[in-house]
Amino acid sequence: MKLLEPTQLSGIHLKNRMVMSSMTRSRADRNGVVGDLTVRYYTQRAGAGLILTEAINISAQATGSPLTPGIYTEEQIEGWKKVTRAVHDRGGVMYAQLWHTGRAGHSVDRGGAQPVAPSAVAISGMQHFTSQGMKAYETPRELSVEEIRQIVKDYGQAAKNAIAAGFDGVELHAANGYLPNQFLAETANRRTDLYGGSIPNKARFVLEVMEELIAAAGGDRVGIKIGTLHPYGDIGYDDPVATYTYLIEQLNTLDFSFVELMRQNPYFPPPARYPKIDEVELFGSMIRQLLIANGGYDRESGEAELQKGRAALISFGTLFLANPDLPERFARNSSLNEADRATMFGGGEQGYIDYPMLAEG
Ligand SMILES: Cc1cc2nc3c(=O)[nH]c(=O)nc-3n(C[C@H](O)[C@H](O)[C@H](O)COP(=O)(O)O)c2cc1C
Repeated sequence: MKLLEPTQLSGIHLKNRMVMSSMTRSRADRNGVVGDLTVRYYTQRAGAGLILTEAINISAQATGSPLTPGIYTEEQIEGWKKVTRAVHDRGGVMYAQLWHTGRAGHSVDRGGAQPVAPSAVAISGMQHFTSQGMKAYETPRELSVEEIRQIVKDYGQAAKNAIAAGFDGVELHAANGYLPNQFLAETANRRTDLYGGSIPNKARFVLEVMEELIAAAGGDRVGIKIGTLHPYGDIGYDDPVATYTYLIEQLNTLDFSFVELMRQNPYFPPPARYPKIDEVELFGSMIRQLLIANGGYDRESGEAELQKGRAALISFGTLFLANPDLPERFARNSSLNEADRATMFGGGEQGYIDYPMLAEG
C-alpha cells in the first residue's frame, strides 16, 4: 500500500508515508523540560515516516497550559536532545511543532501574567484545562506592534534552538485557535492596524513568522499546520475560503517543506453558515508545497486519500497515540488499541508509554 511506501521530504528519506501528528500530552516538568518518559514515548513511535512533536512553547510568554514543554532554555534544549538522538537511532525523522498559545491560556499557569492576543477578546463557549482544574478564559491583553515583532523573532530563535536540539525541522502551529490562528480569525482579531482589518493584514503575522522560520532554519526544514474550518478555541471567519485562499496563495510564494491540512472534525463541527467543502480537494489543489492531510483518517481512508493524489503523506493523531507500532499494524492489517481519553493530558506512564505493541513475528 502507498501508506507504507518509503518517500522523501525535502531530501530526507522517510520510511513510509505515515506521519504522527502533534499531540500535547502535558508530561514535561514544571520548567517545561521533557524527561525519560518522553524519550520512550517518541522512541516507541519511531516507525512513523515522520513524527511531529507535541506543541512546544517558544517562550515563557507563549505558554498557556500546565506541564507543556518549551524550547527556550538550555535545560529544555538538552531534554529534547535526548529525544531526537533516540528517535534518530531508530531511523526516525522528527520535526518540532512551535507553539504560542495567545489567548488560549490561563494566568494560573503563566506565573500570574495575563494572556496576550491580537485583541482583548476572550474565548467564550468553552473552558481551559489548568493546573487548578477547568477555568473560564480570561480577557487577554492586546499586543502592541512592537510586541508582535518580538514574538516573530521568538519564533526564529525557537527554530534555531530546535535545530540545535537535533530536530530535522519545525512546524508552525497555525491551527486549533492558538496565536497565529487568532490573527487570521475575525472572532479573535479586531485590530485596525497593519495586523487586522483586511484579509492580507490578518494573514500578515502568519506570513512574517513563516519568513522568520525559513530564515532561521532553512525552507527545507519548515512546515505549517492549518485547519481551515475548525472552530476550536472560538475561531470564526467571515469567509474561511477567502481567508485561506489568500493565505495559501501567499504561502505559495515562499519556499518551504510542507503544509499539513487538518480537516473538519465531527466533534467540533464548523458553523452551519460555512460552505460544505472537502478541504483536501479544495485547498489541496491550491497548495504548492508537499501536502500532509490530517483528521479522522484510518488505514482505508488514509490509503484512499493518497490514491487520489493530492496528499503525499497522511498524519494520524489518536491512532498513533494508542498504537505506537501503527505502521506495523497497518502492514499486518491487525486490530488497533483504543485511545484512553482520561490519560491524554497529564499523568505519568499510564496511557503514555504502556500501550501494547504487537508481538514480534
Ligand atoms: C491528545 C491530543 C492532543 C493534541 N494536541 C495537539 C497539538 O499539540 N498540536 C496540534 O497541532 N494538534 C494537536 N492535536 C490534534 C491532532 O494533531 C490531530 O490534528 C487531530 O487529532 C486529528 O487527527 P486524528 O483524527 O488522526 O486524531 C491533539 C489531538 C489529541 C487527541
